Amino acid sequence: MLGGLPRRASFIEQLRRERKNVLLVDTGDMLFSRPPAQGPYTKKMADLKTDLYMKTYNLMGYDAITPGELDLFFRVDNVLQMSKQAFFPFLAANLIDTKSGKPVFKPYLIKEMPGIKVGLLGLISRRYPLGPPEEKEKYSLADPIERAQKIVPQLKKKKCQVIAVLGHMEDDEKELLAKAVPGIHFILSGHNPNYYLQPMQANNSQIFVAGARGENLGKVDFLIEKKKLHSHYQLVALTSKYADHPQAQEMLNQYKTTLQELLRTSPQVGFRIRPKVAPRETAVLSAPSFVGERVCLDCHQQEYQSWLTTSHASAYQTLAQQGKSSDPTCLACHSTGYGESRNPPGISLENVQCEACHGAGEGHPEPRKSLLRISENQCLKCHNPSNSPKFNYADYLQKIRHQK
Ligand code: HEC
Ligand code: HEC
Ligand code: HEC
Ligand code: HEC
Repeated sequence: MLGGLPRRASFIEQLRRERKNVLLVDTGDMLFSRPPAQGPYTKKMADLKTDLYMKTYNLMGYDAITPGELDLFFRVDNVLQMSKQAFFPFLAANLIDTKSGKPVFKPYLIKEMPGIKVGLLGLISRRYPLGPPEEKEKYSLADPIERAQKIVPQLKKKKCQVIAVLGHMEDDEKELLAKAVPGIHFILSGHNPNYYLQPMQANNSQIFVAGARGENLGKVDFLIEKKKLHSHYQLVALTSKYADHPQAQEMLNQYKTTLQELLRTSPQVGFRIRPKVAPRETAVLSAPSFVGERVCLDCHQQEYQSWLTTSHASAYQTLAQQGKSSDPTCLACHSTGYGESRNPPGISLENVQCEACHGAGEGHPEPRKSLLRISENQCLKCHNPSNSPKFNYADYLQKIRHQK
């Protein structure tokens, strides 16, 4: 993660200083980046993370969130508990309590701002599994499109001029939703770890996909003029251009210290933090995490020192000098693993680090996970003809080889 919570908090604070009306939402998968194991250690970690997220989200003044399947997979009851700590509602129109037949969370929220009334509706895909078996009887997911077809007309009747869906679902489902339910202006997307620089257009709806692990913040400016809605979307990369928010940073530090203490005192976890998951689900939902160059320094000082002498180690600085340090198009090559994978919070992936060439380091060196062999193809991801016209593998390799 390039920025994460502290940078998000400082960006939001700055935004609120600049303008009065800011609506802040999240579309889920906050606690985990892959299906978690259901054990006492994971529960403790989830409790710590829940506390961190709710405290920082309260600090930033979030307006609403829609939980994702990875939050729910751990247990709906835990997410319910989590929502009690929040100063804002959790929205999910189609997560149903089987016994009562009613939604577990608020289906929607109407926000009245000066001159504009916004309806926010929360929806979760049915394609993802809910958690443990006993929860599958207690809760179910109704068809999101059918729920939206009921609720969107209600929001219109209540004079919402802007209707936005917080949609935790796959890209094709968002398009189906936009086509099946007229009147949705924006679909703010969760779940997809990738990001798109431009909104996707489906029918009259705009779909925004801002990525994962706090790398970016999707920002939509909108106003109504002569009854017409105008909007402008920008993907803001939360790089070190944005200072860390001291209070949020303090909360993150506290979390890390407590987590380290927990790791140290938990006999069932060793070097690897990742809980074991059923292989099928791992394949669908997870890629290994990047751990950051600092971790490699512990065991490979020589390679580290030699890497420091290459321009890879200052590739982010190069962007900063160009005033481009928050441009996601540039970060794709001038940082590590940008938009590729999901990571725990709090590590910096600026510059072309070890893992840009060697692959994500989670799990290395235990249990005997060898890092990728280097081949020309890896260089060509970034050294393409337009950005590196003089690239020649043999020559270039010679220049970046770690000296002995
Ligand atoms: C806890 C110590 C430790 C850390 C931290 C560590 N390594 Fe290693 N690394 C090793 C050991 C031990 C080996 C030799 C492994 C073997 O022989 O199987 C190794 C081998 C390697 C190799 C040689 C190829 C291979 O995989 O066998 C590469 C490349 C490598 N490490 C890169 C990294 C990078 C990049 C990082 C940071 C993401 C990293 N290492 C972090 C201990 C570490
Ligand atoms: C994640 C993207 C990325 C990958 C992967 C990558 N590079 Fe680079 N490389 C860069 C960027 C960006 C620069 C320019 C850094 C700067 O000056 O800010 C660079 C600069 C270089 C330079 C210095 C050029 C010069 O003359 O200053 C060499 C040599 C080089 N890379 C070799 C390689 C080789 C060989 C590989 C594959 C083993 C590789 N790079 C993989 C992004 C990458
Ligand atoms: C597809 C990958 C890629 C993207 C996207 C990319 N760069 Fe680069 N950039 C590179 C590589 C690779 C080099 C090194 C080229 C070489 O020396 O052969 C480089 C070199 C540079 C250099 C020259 C560094 C020096 O001092 O020699 C600057 C400046 C730069 N990039 C800025 C940017 C900016 C600004 C953006 C976004 C608009 C951007 N780059 C997007 C891959 C990329
Ligand atoms: C630009 C790509 C690139 C980057 C960035 C990079 N390496 Fe390497 N690394 C290589 C290549 C290529 C080799 C194989 C060297 C060879 O064939 O001589 C290698 C080999 C290694 C080895 C094995 C050395 C051996 O003797 O077997 C280790 C360990 C290693 N790198 C660690 C690191 C660490 C730690 C970092 C970050 C500080 C890092 N590398 C950054 C390209 C890279």
